[in-house]
Order: sequence, then C-alpha cells, then structure tokens
Amino acid sequence: MQTRDIPVAARGLLEGKLVAFPTETVYGLGADAENEGALLRLFKVKGRPKSHPVIVHINDLSRLDYWAKDIPDYVYALEKEFWPGPMTLLLSSRERVSDLVTGGQNVVGVRFPSDNIARQLLEEFHKLGGNGVAAPSANRFGKVSPTSADAVLEELLGYTFPYDILIDGGKCRVGIESTIIDCTSKFPRILRPGAITREMVSKICIVNEVIENRIYRAPGTLRKHYSPRAKVSINQQPKPGEGLIALSSIETPDGVFRLCSPNSIEHFAQDLYSSFRLGDRLGLKKICVLLPNEDGLVLAIKDRVSRASSSK
Ligand code: TXA
Ligand code: MG
Repeated sequence: MQTRDIPVAARGLLEGKLVAFPTETVYGLGADAENEGALLRLFKVKGRPKSHPVIVHINDLSRLDYWAKDIPDYVYALEKEFWPGPMTLLLSSRERVSDLVTGGQNVVGVRFPSDNIARQLLEEFHKLGGNGVAAPSANRFGKVSPTSADAVLEELLGYTFPYDILIDGGKCRVGIESTIIDCTSKFPRILRPGAITREMVSKICIVNEVIENRIYRAPGTLRKHYSPRAKVSINQQPKPGEGLIALSSIETPDGVFRLCSPNSIEHFAQDLYSSFRLGDRLGLKKICVLLPNEDGLVLAIKDRVSRASSSK
C-alpha cells in the first residue's frame, strides 16, 4: 500500500508492518526495531543473512542512550555537528538490543536522518511509544539501493505483503548511503565513506586512520555490493552500445547511451543509482563510469562504483 499519511505508516510499524520510507541518502525498509517478528520478515524480504546488522533510526538525540552505552565524548561532538544527517554511528549496544539488530555482536548502529518525511515518521512512531526503526536500504541483498519510490517497488514488489507500506517522498537528496563511523574505540574510524567526509569529520575530532583487525559482518563493506546486472567499469572509455555516467562537461561518444549528465559532484552522487537502474532497464551489458578527479564526496562515489564493478 502506498500512502502519504505518516501517522498511518507509524501505526503500521507498531503493528509489525514493514514501511519503506525516504531518507536523505536512500530509501530504507523500516521495521520496529523491538519487534522480532517484523525484524525476521525484514531479513526475509531483503534476502539478507541474519548475521548482518541493521541500523536503528531515531529522531531524538536523547534516544541514543536507550540503544547504546559507554558513549565516548567525541560522539557528542559528532552528533552535534552532523545530526540530523547522513551519518551512522556504531556504538556498544545495550543488553536490550535484539541480536537481529546487532547481528549477534555487541555493537549497534544508530542514525538520526534529516529527511522531513523520515523525521515525521520517526516522531509519530516515538509518540506511539516506539523507540527506533530498524531500516536497511530498501533493496534486495547485494543490489543497488533505491533512491525513488519506483525503485523500491522495482526491488521489493513480490517480496513484501500487501499490507506493508511505501511512503513516496520523491527523489533522495544525497543518493548514496550514510557515512558509517565506528565509535567503539578511543578514536572514531570511518568504515563506509559517505556525504559526511573524512575531511569534515577530522575537523571535529581526531580520526583513526589505522585499519584494525576487527571484522564486522557488514554487507555494505563486502567487496561486491551495490551491483546492477550490467558490468560496471571505472574510467574506461565507453564503446558504442555501452552506457555512460559522467559529468555533463564530458561529451558522449557516438552510439553510447548517456545515463545522466550531472553538473556537480553532488548531482553525480544523487543520479548514480538511478542511472545504474536505467542501464539495466535498457538491457545494457556494460556501464562506464568516468569519475571526477577529486576527494571528498568523490571518494564515497568511488567506493560504491568499485564495489558495483567488483566481480566477487
Ligand atoms: O544511508 C543509510 O545508511 C541507509 C538509510 C536507509 O539509512 N541505510 C543503509 O542500511 O544503508 P544498510 O543496512 O543497507 O547498510 C548499513 C550498513 C551495513 O553494511 C550494515 O551491516 C552496517 O551498516 N551496520 C549496521 N549496523 C551495524 C552494526 N551494529 N555493526 C556493524 N555494522 C553495522
Ligand atoms: Mg544496503
């Protein structure tokens, strides 16, 4: 069922329904983070192994303490600067947090999104007594995250139940998933780059550059992920019949399918996933991505494109 009625959607969550909703990054598939039945179905609909943790979404800073404990001081500096926004913090979890949310580890991921509809939904849910909404990206496991309501339908129709809910909030502003920061040690460590860049984080606190030997079962950090059916190549010139994703300043060679013409890095990120989807709809065998030569958000774009292009 599609609706714009946020209170109906919030009640749905409390009744154990799944609610796909927009965030500023990508669409999430939400379930009450304290309802085991709803969480189990969430994993089933996504086709995701149960050992992979899901992010808890909140709309109120004071609720962080409900989910996490032993919160380091730098976390307060980070949340003050970047929440609400595209940043997920990994923290030591409280005992009450379901193993389905943590993947059986003692770490919980928490995010306070900035998208208006997401915030209204979370607020209504909190008013009804809910404490957080577990929401992975609303795509099938390993596939491209949806950045529009149509893309959610393309991914999940046939897997959800008729009473599950989809809130259409148009196109997502950022277009790629949140920055994930591990805050379980003395210094924060960036695990998944996103719109909150390393440069932005280092202005707030010291960032741990060392890759520790601690493996999280985090599908977003698996090598192959975010994949369209088409083969994806990075910085290779497209041949006729292939797709092209590049800044508008780059010309389209003859016979090549231009999938988007972003005029800034921000638009590049915003259009990336919908262009992958378009390439698949056109039945293209190969999509060539020409990456802008910059740091910042480009690093996050590069991360996603590299994973999409990985063969394993
Ligand atoms: O922008 C986003 O983060 C979107 C929107 C919907 O909020 N969500 C999202 O969720 O991308 P998902 O599940 O598709 O990717 C989240 C990543 C996964 O790699 C997951 O394993 C990791 O975060 N993650 C979540 N909770 C974790 C935890 N407790 N410990 C380690 N990794 C965690
Ligand atoms: Mg995902």
